[in-house]
Amino acid sequence: MAFKTMTILGGKGMLGTDLAVVASQRGLGVRIYDLPEFDITDGKQLEAAVSGSEVIVNCAAYTNVEKAESEIELANQVNGYAVGRLGEIAKDAGVPVLHISTDFVFDGMKAGWLNPDAVIAFFA
Ligand SMILES: NC(=O)c1ccc[n+]([C@@H]2O[C@H](COP(=O)([O-])OP(=O)(O)OC[C@H]3O[C@@H](n4cnc5c(N)ncnc54)[C@H](OP(=O)(O)O)[C@@H]3O)[C@@H](O)[C@H]2O)c1
Repeated sequence: MAFKTMTILGGKGMLGTDLAVVASQRGLGVRIYDLPEFDITDGKQLEAAVSGSEVIVNCAAYTNVEKAESEIELANQVNGYAVGRLGEIAKDAGVPVLHISTDFVFDGMKAGWLNPDAVIAFFA
């Protein structure tokens, strides 16, 4: 399936910025969503971002590893619950989502697909 536009959540971050440049260079229209206008933990804002999207790449993330130890709830909301909600909303809307993880969590050594509960197994 060929897409004409790409929605990038967290599109002002390091990865999102680079992805937006590459997508534009390849002729895609880019829709950027990021703080402070867009908060991925806000269900209504998430629905609005999904609406009208052809494909979504999620680069929005709580990435301050040290601070995450004292802001556990916020880190879980952004990196966990909001991503689950994104998946549900996008599935209902028929919009594919690519979520970027990190080699801090997955070392890339596992062959085949990772199941949604893989991260829970990792920390168990
Ligand atoms: N950069 C890499 O080389 C790399 C490599 C492997 C994996 N990744 C993964 O790619 C993802 C993005 O990484 P990054 O390096 O681009 O991080 P980043 O520069 O910190 O970008 C994350 C973006 O998400 C935004 N954000 C934070 N909380 C948000 C919220 N509640 N709602 C909406 N947006 C929010 C941040 O805004 P603020 O800056 O205002 O907080 C920022 O613009 C992460 O999951 C990371 O693990 C990155």
